[in-house]
Amino acid sequence: MRLVVNDRSNHMNETIDLKRAIYPDLGDRRVVIAGGTGDVGEGIVRTWLKTGAHVIVPSRTDSRVEQFRQVLSDIGQPINLDFVTGRYNSFDEAQAMTESITTKYGPVTDVIASIGGWWQGKPLWEVDTDEWQRYFVGMTTTHFAMARAWSPRLPQTGSYQLILGGSAVEPVPNASIISMQQAALLMMRRVLSAEAGDRHRVAAQILGPVVTRARKRIDPAWVSNEEVGLASAGIAADAGAKDADYVSYDKAQMQETLKGLHVYPK
Ligand SMILES: NC(=O)c1ccc[n+]([C@@H]2O[C@H](COP(=O)([O-])OP(=O)(O)OC[C@H]3O[C@@H](n4cnc5c(N)ncnc54)[C@H](OP(=O)(O)O)[C@@H]3O)[C@@H](O)[C@H]2O)c1
Repeated sequence: MRLVVNDRSNHMNETIDLKRAIYPDLGDRRVVIAGGTGDVGEGIVRTWLKTGAHVIVPSRTDSRVEQFRQVLSDIGQPINLDFVTGRYNSFDEAQAMTESITTKYGPVTDVIASIGGWWQGKPLWEVDTDEWQRYFVGMTTTHFAMARAWSPRLPQTGSYQLILGGSAVEPVPNASIISMQQAALLMMRRVLSAEAGDRHRVAAQILGPVVTRARKRIDPAWVSNEEVGLASAGIAADAGAKDADYVSYDKAQMQETLKGLHVYPK
């Protein structure tokens, strides 16, 4: 297991110019981006479309798909993008979705799980059952169901990737549920690596705040969702990127992550 944490102490004002990005050619890959309609997911989808891969985005509702098509209207209607509507939040639902995607489109090589969002607002002793069920049980079950359904189907060159936040490793006061959920998912990533062995690669990104269209305030040091997408494409393209957690809390660390994955000039 590798924790890829780059030094950021000397590079506090680092920027990343995506015009200089080296997009890998993933024209022979088919990726499922779960949570692709979400804030971080949007950047992952946009990046993977540039790699030439066939991109499939599942969503629980048609309305969310329609909304997301509008969000992507600046890039027209890419021929390498498909949407699948349906739930994948239980073992049975995820299994059924996996089978229907594979039957309809053919084998999938990579899966990016950018599922779930943020919750914060009260100390642990005030958390109620509904919040616990929704943000811990619901989210971890969804991630587990997807990993369980896809892992046996991925090829050796393929990757299963999780998009996680720093709360996986640093406790965030008043966000106990999400901190525990993200920590659980990080361990799922590591156990899955140990169990999948050489069958397929498994990796995670552990991120600080991400710049997305939903943000009202942006710190220039924050990583952007398209940078997260570029790192995920780099992981998919790099046969050596396995059993690793790429930590990018800010642009300086992300720049080193991207260079290490050969998708940004050194
Ligand atoms: N936003 C950030 O600044 C940030 C920073 C660090 C890490 N992250 C991590 O990035 C991942 C995605 O976060 P995000 O901010 O992009 O979240 P988001 O905008 O809320 O998107 C979450 C996506 O998950 C899908 N989803 C599937 N099942 C869900 C369920 N039961 N409840 C809620 N959503 C469900 C949704 O798709 P449909 O609605 O289309 O089904 C939605 O597109 C999370 O793991 C988060 O910890 C985010």
